[in-house]
Amino acid sequence: MRLFVTGGAGFMGSNFIRYVLTKYPEYEVVNFDKLTYAGNLENLRDMEHDKRYTFVKGDIADAKAVQQAMDKHRPDAILNYAAETHVDRSILDPDAFVRTEVIGTYTLLEAAKTFKNRRFVQISTDEVYGHVASGRTSETAMLAPRSPYSASKAGADLLVQAYHTTFGVPTILTRSCNFLGPYQFPEKFIPFFITNLIDGKSLPVYGDGKQSREYIYVDDHCAAIDLLLHEGTAGEIYNISSEKSQENLTVVKLLLKMFGKDESVVEHVADRPGHDRRYAPDAAKLRRELHWKPTVAFEEGLRRTVEWYREHEGWWRPLKSGVHLKYFQQQYGDR
Ligand code: NAD
Ligand code: DAU
Repeated sequence: MRLFVTGGAGFMGSNFIRYVLTKYPEYEVVNFDKLTYAGNLENLRDMEHDKRYTFVKGDIADAKAVQQAMDKHRPDAILNYAAETHVDRSILDPDAFVRTEVIGTYTLLEAAKTFKNRRFVQISTDEVYGHVASGRTSETAMLAPRSPYSASKAGADLLVQAYHTTFGVPTILTRSCNFLGPYQFPEKFIPFFITNLIDGKSLPVYGDGKQSREYIYVDDHCAAIDLLLHEGTAGEIYNISSEKSQENLTVVKLLLKMFGKDESVVEHVADRPGHDRRYAPDAAKLRRELHWKPTVAFEEGLRRTVEWYREHEGWWRPLKSGVHLKYFQQQYGDR
């Protein structure tokens, strides 16, 4: 099987490529990635000499580049991990979000129109449901995105569903909770705070810190995507979540304990505009139909993640001082 993985130089895409090439010796992977600030070929340095792995630099919103790569590699499945993913950046500068999420997904779907028995897997997010005051959101819940990031992802979701209904593209749409694990860009909450703790810096908690998220460890997400790629039902939507909610301050307290520090390093800063306080995707369908369940508990995943960042300073330090993060700090201050 030949997989066309977009965004494979990012956090989850690279973890998925490594997972698949390790698990299936006969599989081939084409990694199609624009290499934005979040794309990093270091994430797959250990795979680059593997004959089953090919990297193509390209933009999913560039129809010509996408078609050329499809014609050349003729994949059996497309897995679309490519996206602009940081909510704060979508508030500062939404342009790239709309372009990549909406136009990019549309461009890939156009290229996939000829797919008959093949697969198109769209990696989406629980953020499309918006803030969830109580209960859990199933796949049929109304979409109520509230940031430019989640609105763009929701636009892509609707296109995916429309291309299945109208053109019969064999799509699988996943909506995942937050991931944690190695290779996450150090602007995101968990790696940002871990690397700040390593550097003896303070931890900027947005607002009261009582917002909650659900997390799954990278390998559990890869296993879910693997199952859906092979056994998911075309046209269906699947939530992916541990269904275990963690308040931001709870995560902070666990991190402080792991680093032997006290709460004096916590700094409550201005809240994110439009900040969703709670997500709670219901993953019963995935558990029931495909017998998926997460295997790494949150604390264990956090411990492994802390260990990885402690051991891979050479990976994250250039990213933390890089020009793109500097741009971000100009807007938000040096945290
Ligand atoms: P990331 O930001 O780490 O990486 C994104 C990758 O996409 C980068 O390699 C980047 O170069 C590439 N990319 C961006 N624009 C592109 C374009 N126009 N053409 C080609 N490549 C492009 O992302 P991530 O955190 O690994 O997220 C992967 C996917 O999972 C995204 O679709 C995201 O919306 C979704 N998701 C992420 C999380 C999370 O917690 N990180 C949770 C739920 C869903
Ligand atoms: O829910 C899935 C989503 O999870 C994905 O679709 C997004 O791509 C991914 O970035 C993530 O979005 P979040 O907004 O949940 O992640 P982030 O790491 O930005 O923030 C997690 C929580 O921590 C959130 O409530 C905001 C808070 N936070 C974040 C940062 C960066 C802080 O309090 N301080 C910070 O400095």
